[in-house]
Amino acid sequence: MYDNYHRDINYLRVSITDRCNLRCRYCIPKEGLSLLGHDDILRYEEILRVVRVAVGLGVAKVRVTGGEPLVRRGVIPFMTALKLLPGIEDLSLTTNGVLLERYAADLRAAGVCRLNISLDSLNREKYHYITRGGSLADALRGIDAVFARGFAPIKINVVAMKGFNDDEILDFARLTLERPFQVRFIELMPVGHTGRDNIGKYLACEEIRGEIARNHPLLPVPGARDRMDGPARIYRIDGGVGEIGFIAAMSNHFCHRCNRLRLTADGHLRSCLFSDAEIDLKDPLRSGCSDDRIASLIREAIAKKPRKHKIRPEGNYLGECGKNMSAIGG
Ligand code: 5AD
Ligand code: SF4
Repeated sequence: MYDNYHRDINYLRVSITDRCNLRCRYCIPKEGLSLLGHDDILRYEEILRVVRVAVGLGVAKVRVTGGEPLVRRGVIPFMTALKLLPGIEDLSLTTNGVLLERYAADLRAAGVCRLNISLDSLNREKYHYITRGGSLADALRGIDAVFARGFAPIKINVVAMKGFNDDEILDFARLTLERPFQVRFIELMPVGHTGRDNIGKYLACEEIRGEIARNHPLLPVPGARDRMDGPARIYRIDGGVGEIGFIAAMSNHFCHRCNRLRLTADGHLRSCLFSDAEIDLKDPLRSGCSDDRIASLIREAIAKKPRKHKIRPEGNYLGECGKNMSAIGG
């Protein structure tokens, strides 16, 4: 399915819960969230139905996100069912890793092997601080477990924050010397209620790349864009086994290449991460609508996909993105 700007929309990100076992400062506001109730989130059968219809319209890649997807009960049978849907070429999961040790074997058996794991610090206290109570040891054990089981690719998402982890850039980059991970630095985005808290913490990818390049020979990876690296620009340290990616969502937005559509935990189609112009699917689904109706709502969402976002790194005062990341799924 092409949108109005000739973008082939073939990638659906599905948030299966807004709940999370961590409360990262840039994602969840300090007063906490009013969490969605059981009936507010789509049932697995409803999600599978939407995905099936979306596949019929050209979606071939699906990423399951949260909140933290592994906290939702029944996630493994759900992933298994998703993987078995005809037409899905690529199924991946974004997780904070804390429960990965427990779920690694089941995920592998379900046929999932592409993982993105969020990890914003390699320091125990700092990790505890940024996640408001999370255990770095749990996340690292999760990463070790999936590495040992042969998951690939394993991408480590690092949200870059000035004054927080800017002193760990080289430590993160050096992980790729020994392990075949793709470490991706993501520019901090002023999303939801956390926008104002982020002021002064934004760090542009170009600065990060510069620091790595001053310390290690950094080579662009040719053809990386063809390998489903999405918005990341990919490099590697000469001699390293892994890769380093930069997701410059703010400084060098990649909207013109954006191929994605999102299904939020509460059953809305969201055509741009930063736009609250959503289309409700939950009510139609629950009032017995046909697959054709779902397809036409998906087409409508795609037709409404904006050409590009107008969010500035240091502020989101226009109220364009009021929903929190934990309900959108990143
Ligand atoms: N800015 C940048 N990245 C964010 N993520 C969550 N909130 C933000 C934000 N405000 C990241 C998570 C995860 C991915 C899904 O999105 O760290 O890796
Ligand atoms: Fe949870 Fe991810 Fe949000 Fe952190 S960024 S609170 S791990 S959903």
